[in-house]
Amino acid sequence: MSKLPEHIAIIMDGNGRWASARLMPRSYGHSQGVKALDVTLRYAFSLGIRIVSVYAFSTENRSRPRAETERLFALLREYIDEYSDKMQTEKIKLNIMGDISKLPADLQTAVSKALKLTANNTGGIFNIGLNYGGRDEILRAVNKLLAAGNKNINADEFEKELYTAGLPDPDLIIRPGGELRLSNFMLWQAAYSELYFTDVLWPDFDKAELQKALQEYGKRERRFGKVTEKNEK
Ligand code: IPE
Ligand code: IPE
Ligand code: MG
Repeated sequence: MSKLPEHIAIIMDGNGRWASARLMPRSYGHSQGVKALDVTLRYAFSLGIRIVSVYAFSTENRSRPRAETERLFALLREYIDEYSDKMQTEKIKLNIMGDISKLPADLQTAVSKALKLTANNTGGIFNIGLNYGGRDEILRAVNKLLAAGNKNINADEFEKELYTAGLPDPDLIIRPGGELRLSNFMLWQAAYSELYFTDVLWPDFDKAELQKALQEYGKRERRFGKVTEKNEK
């Protein structure tokens, strides 16, 4: 593969439609979605991608029916618990974006345990957006800087207050599920990310789908506003 992104971010969308198409409850789609996550995540790390960010639960998803959000939180807790040991052997460090303080206590416990366990790992970073919203993240950072007495805010200081402090911006954002939008995901960090959309629903996403996205990424010319040899002609 020619040019590999250092950081990919995935908006895992389409679980509900995947289940409905099979006349199954939406929660079945979410459990299959967790399986797709496991396959994709481990494949990405095995290829040498250093950081994988995923959107697991947005601030807007809080307004979904309670039964669905509870099921989702339970699935995420199970996954984080199970994956903790693997993260340890694979030297993957966990990072969380979002305010988890109001999420179910068992999920918070699983997260804190995994964060502690993997804190010193240097093999790769698994970054989960959990009760995450880009606008929330930006306001939280601004308010922190204001509370610290800042009158002016520069980009470097601002980025230190984001959930992604110390991480490079995503090179590639992948959205399965057919929608062409960011849905409040990594708004600041997405400024120069390459975007890849596919109609494949998240539970059907697999190694081959990730390969397609990476191949497409390999063809993109990232200009960052500059004139390059290619676009000068
Ligand atoms: C999963 O897909 C993403 C989450 C919000 C957890 P959805 O649950 O949004 O599935 P669709 O978009 O309704 O098909
Ligand atoms: C985005 O999916 C959020 C996650 C994948 C966690 P949504 O299904 O919530 O997005 P919208 O509502 O279609 O924009
Ligand atoms: Mg959706």
